[in-house]
Amino acid sequence: MSDRKPLIAGNWKMNLDHQQGIALVQKLAWTLKDVNHDYDKVEVAVLPPFTDLRSVQTLIDADKLQFVIGAQDLSKFDSGAYTGEVSAQFLNKLDVKYVLVGHSERRTLHNEDGDVIQAKVAAAFRNNLIPVICVGETLEELEQQGAAAVPIQQLEKALEGHKEIGEFVVAYEPVWAIGTGKVATAEQAAEVAKKLRSSISELVSDEVAQVTRILYGGSVKSANVAGFLASEEVDGVLVGGASLDVGEFTGICRFQKHVSL
Ligand code: 13P
Repeated sequence: MSDRKPLIAGNWKMNLDHQQGIALVQKLAWTLKDVNHDYDKVEVAVLPPFTDLRSVQTLIDADKLQFVIGAQDLSKFDSGAYTGEVSAQFLNKLDVKYVLVGHSERRTLHNEDGDVIQAKVAAAFRNNLIPVICVGETLEELEQQGAAAVPIQQLEKALEGHKEIGEFVVAYEPVWAIGTGKVATAEQAAEVAKKLRSSISELVSDEVAQVTRILYGGSVKSANVAGFLASEEVDGVLVGGASLDVGEFTGICRFQKHVSL
């Protein structure tokens, strides 16, 4: 196990209204308390829809819960006439720590290209949010170019041209594994994570590469999480469907129970 603190992040996607969101966070807090979860050892983040953020933040604040909050998207602009957009400044005011950038659903369903993603990463850095830069290849790209080529190109583009690079997280999410029940093997995930870390060394520095957390995402469940996190290279997971189920997500947060460290 490396010195990097593992991050378990639940991306709720477009699920759970603010009342359902509060209920889930409360149940999750109780369940993790019952099993004495040590948040200093494993960080737990919830990434609710925008409309839930204020309620979840108020609950976390009032009950002094140890979860951190992430957002699923942000605008590349900080303010102005951009109807429907959400500024990183506003997210920062809501104690949001992480923000997803470049999730494959944004890349494909919302046509976000490398330039948009790069500008969103810049907006996150400007406003003290930690971008979770999502990268991953489609099945076709996997067959034609292998697993690491596209994720590395996407990461290079996202990190290019910034005046200053703040803290960031990388999430390797093979598109073919998202919501499909097909998972990468632990070896595949570790190999891509290792290559992504080398490219951070080249793009930024060895020091940054050593402290940057690289997550795996795509059909992660309590039954398969330990395999991914047994590797030195993988520093956490980005969980979709299984983060909506308190039992499953608790099992994922407790991955160390299954991993020999
Ligand atoms: P699933 O865990 O549902 O496959 O989703 C992964 C994901 O896209 C997390 O961002």
